[in-house]
Parts: sequence; structure tokens; C-alpha cells
Amino acid sequence: MPAVVTNVQQNGARVTVRRAQGGPEETLDTSKHDIFPANVQGLTTNDHCALIHLNEPCVLENSKLRFLRDEIYTYTGKILVALNPFGPLPVYGESQMATYVDKEIGAKGLSPHLYAMGEAAYKHVKRHKSPSALVMSGESGAGKTETTKHLMRYLAWRSERVCGKAVGKLGELANAILSTNPLLEAFGNAKTVRNNNSSRFGKMMRLHFEQNGSVSGAVIKTYLLEKSRAVAITNPERNYHIFYQLVAGASAANKGPLLASLTPDGLRMLNQSQCISMPNISDADAFGETFGAMQKLGVNQRAQDETAIIL
Ligand SMILES: Nc1ncnc2c1ncn2[C@@H]1O[C@H](COP(=O)(O)OP(=O)(O)OP(=O)(O)O)[C@@H](O)[C@H]1O
Ligand SMILES: [Mg+2]
Repeated sequence: MPAVVTNVQQNGARVTVRRAQGGPEETLDTSKHDIFPANVQGLTTNDHCALIHLNEPCVLENSKLRFLRDEIYTYTGKILVALNPFGPLPVYGESQMATYVDKEIGAKGLSPHLYAMGEAAYKHVKRHKSPSALVMSGESGAGKTETTKHLMRYLAWRSERVCGKAVGKLGELANAILSTNPLLEAFGNAKTVRNNNSSRFGKMMRLHFEQNGSVSGAVIKTYLLEKSRAVAITNPERNYHIFYQLVAGASAANKGPLLASLTPDGLRMLNQSQCISMPNISDADAFGETFGAMQKLGVNQRAQDETAIIL
């Protein structure tokens, strides 16, 4: 809580403060309260490290003031701190991507962005011909999956530029790499109390590039899928998205006569929780997206039908 110290007593053992938000003055015992020097009120910096006073409350205050201006990204040296906006922001897309090409992290006139992190990794790989890693870390619902998707779109777009592709057009390979997201999310994500699209597994994705910088392939490794969710869920969580998608979107032939006659509330795997559907999400449309992703990834119709039948 930002405040101004108006009086210091007992050699600093007690201080009188007036909170920035207003209200009466308060006297605080400094042994019982954490009091830190503050920066000039309203001061924000693109990089936490550039704050004159660098302590936890100052970092939080800097993040908060920036967040209130829809500036969700802030550097901490070479690390990017991202806050979840929980809503669309006009900071993504090809025109924004273009502004980060060939720019360094923290370049003058450019706001902190995950595109800058993607660019730094891409340039490192291209220049030094050695690997570069980007780690997404944060609690459930922090935005790791969304950030990773934006980053992958940037890297796909960036690597396609060197092939001279027209604006808005990605190659088959880049598109296939991006299509892994809806597929992995259908089988590995579920609604939890913290996140409607919570990844219940870990993921390591390796992108390979040609000498000229174009993407040449990808390897995805997954870890520690929460298998118990497939058989036991608690209210108000859901099982993996794919089961609801299948019930809502699969053809009667693929479902078979028994499943075709049932709805999620008649199915043991889904009816242990009262939460069946999610606001603004159509499981039937998502079914189309999941199987469309399989198509893009080269899974033939027969294998797609067999997957639906096994499920
Ligand atoms: N950059 C963003 N812009 C808009 N909305 C976002 C952004 N990042 C996250 N969100 C919102 O927050 C939700 C949760 O984010 P996300 O699924 O990425 O969290 P997570 O860190 O992967 O969580 P978990 O560990 O549970 O998988 C998203 O479904 C989306 O609604
Ligand atoms: Mg996730």
C-alpha cells in the first residue's frame, strides 16, 4: 500500500504514515510492519530493474500501474513478466509482430512483448547455430498456454518470412505445428476451478530450423498427464474436453447406438460433476476443430474414425 511517512519516532521504531489513497494518519510499529522505500508516485518503467527503489512492493506497484493501462508485459532484465488480462487486447497480430523483427529485448520505442522474447530466441538460433530455450512458468490460470500459443504463432510467422510467404499465409508445416494446440488441448485440458482450459500435463516443444531460418520440423514431448481425471472428477470441474466434444459432435455411426442415445448427464465419466457445459464454448464446434487439426496433421480419415470409436 503506497504511503507517505509524515513522522518518525523512537529512532525509527515507530512511524506515522498517510496512505496515498487517503484516510486518517496511522502510527505503525516498524518491527511488525514491512516498510520499504517507494518510488515517485505514479512512476512506471518498462523494466522492473530500472526502478530507482527495487523491492517487492515496488515491483508489484509497477506491474499494477502498467496493468491498469493494459500494459501486461514488463521486463525484469532478460525475463518477461506477463500478467493475465483475462480479455482480448489489441497487442497481437502480424502488424505488431513486424515491429519486433530484428529488434533487441528492450529496444527503444518498443513496449515489452513476448514477441521480443521470441525474436531474441530466434535470432540466437540463427546467428549462433545453437539451441535456445524459452520457459513458461506460473501458477494455474496465469496464462502459460495462451502465451505459448502467441509465441508459436510468432515463431511460425517469423520463420515463414524468410521464405518470402505472402502476408497472412503460413506454410503447411507451420500450420501443422500450430494445429497441435487444439489437438493436445482436447485430450489434455479440462475445466478446473481455477481455469476453464487448464492443461493437465506438461509439454516440451522443440522447433527445428533450416540454416536459412525457415522452420523444418517440430517434436513435442508431453509429461505427467493427470490420468485420474479420466475416471474421477469433482464438482464443478470437468473431464477432458474431448469426451464432451465427442458426445456433442461425433456422428451416430462413430458413437454407436448406445452412446448416440445418451447425453453427458447419463454418462458416469461426465455426470460425477454437475458442470457439463461451459459458457461461450460449443463442444460440437470444438469437436470439428479437434478433428480438423488431426486432418491438418495428416491423420487419415480411417484413423480419425477409429480414434472416435475407441473414445
Ligand atoms: N494473453 C492473454 N490474452 C487474453 N486472455 C488470456 C491471455 N492469457 C491468458 N488468458 C486467459 O486466461 C485463461 C487461462 O490461461 P492459460 O490457460 O494460458 O493458463 P495456464 O497458465 O496455461 O494454466 P494451467 O496451468 O491451468 O494450464 C485463458 O483461457 C484466457 O481466457
Ligand atoms: Mg495451460
